[in-house]
Amino acid sequence: MISNLSDGVVGTTERPRPDVSFVVGCAGTPELVLRSLQDVVRWSDEHEPLELELVLVSAEADLLAAAQELVSGAPVRALHVEGASPRELLGIGSTVASGQQVVTLMAGELIYEQEPEPGPSAPEGTRAALAAAEGPLAERFGSRHDPHRQGRAAREQPLLLHSLSLFREVFELVFAHRTIRTVVEVGVESGQVSGIYAELGAERVHCVEPAPSDELRRTLAANPALELVERPSPTALADLPVADLYILDGDHNYATVRAEVEWITRNAPDAVVVLHDVLWPCSRRDFYYQPSHVPADQQFPSSEAGATVWHDELDETGFRGEGAFRFALHAGGERNGVLTAVEDAVAGADAGWTLSIVPAVFGVGILARDGAETRALTQALSPYTTSELLYSLENNRIALFTRVLHLDAAMVTARQVVERQEQALQDLTRRVGELESDLRSSRAQLDREQERVRAVRAALEGP
Ligand SMILES: C[S@@+](CC[C@H](N)C(=O)[O-])C[C@H]1O[C@@H](n2cnc3c(N)ncnc32)[C@H](O)[C@@H]1O
Repeated sequence: MISNLSDGVVGTTERPRPDVSFVVGCAGTPELVLRSLQDVVRWSDEHEPLELELVLVSAEADLLAAAQELVSGAPVRALHVEGASPRELLGIGSTVASGQQVVTLMAGELIYEQEPEPGPSAPEGTRAALAAAEGPLAERFGSRHDPHRQGRAAREQPLLLHSLSLFREVFELVFAHRTIRTVVEVGVESGQVSGIYAELGAERVHCVEPAPSDELRRTLAANPALELVERPSPTALADLPVADLYILDGDHNYATVRAEVEWITRNAPDAVVVLHDVLWPCSRRDFYYQPSHVPADQQFPSSEAGATVWHDELDETGFRGEGAFRFALHAGGERNGVLTAVEDAVAGADAGWTLSIVPAVFGVGILARDGAETRALTQALSPYTTSELLYSLENNRIALFTRVLHLDAAMVTARQVVERQEQALQDLTRRVGELESDLRSSRAQLDREQERVRAVRAALEGP
């Protein structure tokens, strides 16, 4: 028998059978693992002591401590395994299990890649039970036994998606339609996309990042196909080999992007160019990283205030960089924004270039010189580039996100008002207390005066 502990059934329904070589529980969250563990311990308390070895596989130190406490008195082995794949974890379960009953509880996003080998004495039906629990739909959207899978996937995403790593399927199409050996990636940040180009077949990826973090250095050093170029674009481009694919996701302003695209159309006319941030908020409004490598005379007056979709001006409660970047004060006009830069660079090029835009996650442009190959690529990309659904979802995403920012700021302001009012109320209450105390002493003094007057009057009137 293989039971899925994620719904906490083991122990509450039946005792694991003596002929079971191991019982595997696969749970998505620490809460579910703990709940399943509680079920096992409770069953053992209420029925008969279970001679089980409990193997808890998790990277969560808090969970391991809580589980140890829960089973204190019961035999438990807690293994701290960080970053192990489901298959490795199953390997651990099987090894420990040989010849004894084992409950393996796993915390984290663990999905069976394939059904595990059943133990030698596992009864018939084991494989069928596993297969029924985990089909291809269930893997992404959950099942009746694991209804929260999509919710978990949603909450594990950052609130504001922004990385090009989300566009792997678009890159797959680019690689399928062009021979791409050399990539120049401008604007690398964490390096989470760099490895994708290598995975898709690039032999060399030049990662241009003027401000690399230690984490980025480590990530790039671990992959021999990736090379850090610690200089800013566009000046770095001329020092690098001509590439088959350019990814432009560095400083999102007219001066930088126009110079980058002009350099590529002149020097690498057969390359495909993928540009990020060609739509809101940078399409028609310059954005400057701090520090920016754009000469001051090519920058518009800018502000740390943020863009919002709810009105046209920048806003203190808009999408801000908290010191990391600035937006041009005004949107539109000439020589302003990423999309304007691409249009102008292409208009000045010797040949015709086609720009397609995927309207998602701030807009991704795919630019290539006109020709049969580009027509085929444009056609392949069209489900993404012409999708009204993606366009609506993106507009909804930026509307919701900037609304959340406004509401968040309004909540902070409202809290400050409440705190000020609470302070004023405290001051007033203290003042009322002081006045009441003054009143009491005045009354006491009056009483004493009246007493004295009565005594004087009595003395004057005589006996
Ligand atoms: C939006 S992030 C890149 C995100 C990354 N491409 C991804 O999709 O995960 C922009 C990066 O560009 C870098 N950057 C800023 N100005 C640059 C320039 N002139 N040349 C190259 N990179 C630049 C910034 O330091 C930052 O790490």
